[in-house]
Amino acid sequence: LENGVARTPPMGWNSWNTFGCNINEGLIRQMADAMVSSGMRDVGYEYVVVDDCWMNPNRDSAGNLQGDPGRFPSGMKALGDYIHARGLKFGIYQAPLDRTCAQYFGAYPGRTGAQGHEAQDARQFAAWGVDYLKYDWCSPSGTIDDQVRTFARMRDALAASGRPIVYSINPNSIHDKTGPRRNWGDVANIWRTTEDITNAWDTGQTNGYPMGIQNIINVTVPLAGYARPGSFNDPDMMEVGRGGMTDTEMRSHFAMWAIMASPLIAGNDLRNMNAATQTILKNQNLIAINQDTLGLQGVQVSFDGTRRVLAKRLANGDVAVALFNQGTTTTTISTTASAIGLSGSSFTLRDAWTNATSSTTGTISASVPGHGTTVYRVSAGPGNPTATPTTVSPTPTTSP
Ligand code: GLA
Repeated sequence: LENGVARTPPMGWNSWNTFGCNINEGLIRQMADAMVSSGMRDVGYEYVVVDDCWMNPNRDSAGNLQGDPGRFPSGMKALGDYIHARGLKFGIYQAPLDRTCAQYFGAYPGRTGAQGHEAQDARQFAAWGVDYLKYDWCSPSGTIDDQVRTFARMRDALAASGRPIVYSINPNSIHDKTGPRRNWGDVANIWRTTEDITNAWDTGQTNGYPMGIQNIINVTVPLAGYARPGSFNDPDMMEVGRGGMTDTEMRSHFAMWAIMASPLIAGNDLRNMNAATQTILKNQNLIAINQDTLGLQGVQVSFDGTRRVLAKRLANGDVAVALFNQGTTTTTISTTASAIGLSGSSFTLRDAWTNATSSTTGTISASVPGHGTTVYRVSAGPGNPTATPTTVSPTPTTSP
């Protein structure tokens, strides 16, 4: 969506994966503070997104949305101010139809959905300082055409509000009947590609709930052609640091989200991250690959059912390559420089996890543990003058 924002995949944190409806302003403030103190903000995490269950079930007498007075007694504007004061941005959640997905207000009369209130809600969000809206279909009924019309109404309302707001949509509640995923780049900045993620490597699902990490990757890789600056596939908030996977699996999760140009929205409790989680979420080599200004999603180079190779072209001419082992035992995964679109007779490989460099005349290969991923940033030619992105730390040196 060409609305000036999300020129690279949005980065931030969302309350849902860990806290569900268990949210309040104290918790969100602590998370904003933790995003700063943990160093997450400094490597690019920006949006603090309050998911479902923040609302008062009833609009006020003028029809305006209100925060739940018990959970957010200071009001949503004050929360936005708190987040902005820390150099971060404020995200919020709403649904277009009668109810949000949590049905949290099912016991109450009144409608919280935005239908008919789009302009009013967009103005309200802008007045609260909202920088990011997650807009969730949350209904088993409707057609793709209904979704396009309805999601586009909020797109236009946000534009009319005059505030730059990242527009994140979730059409997934009718994915089971809408078949191949639509390219939503005309409607939204990011759009969910699957049913909800869960804190597990593989649930055996292909299109149902809940989706494991590997299941989501299988669905999202073929959608690579949709990604461009302003428009990205959204394979859902991350489960890194939530304890349901091995460290190897969490590294693959993050690496694949990075190379798929996916939004990097952490879903863990930022207040108590162990060293492995911090190392993964703050890997600046992978963040630089994800945030590359070309805004391309890694495309599949090869896949034999176990060994998957993705390549992502980068703005300085480098190519990031992921060697992803979907099997359970260690295996060698190989590709070549020409297969990932580079020509020349010598290449430098920088391993995104170890930061080690090596050189090759063309073969790109690694021994990868089960469920593991090796990522290289590949530069063509020794001394490639543009091969040093300034955002990568420690600063890589080009080879002699
Ligand atoms: C849906 C979405 C989740 C979350 C919940 C909130 O399931 O896919 O990401 O927003 O709704 O109820």
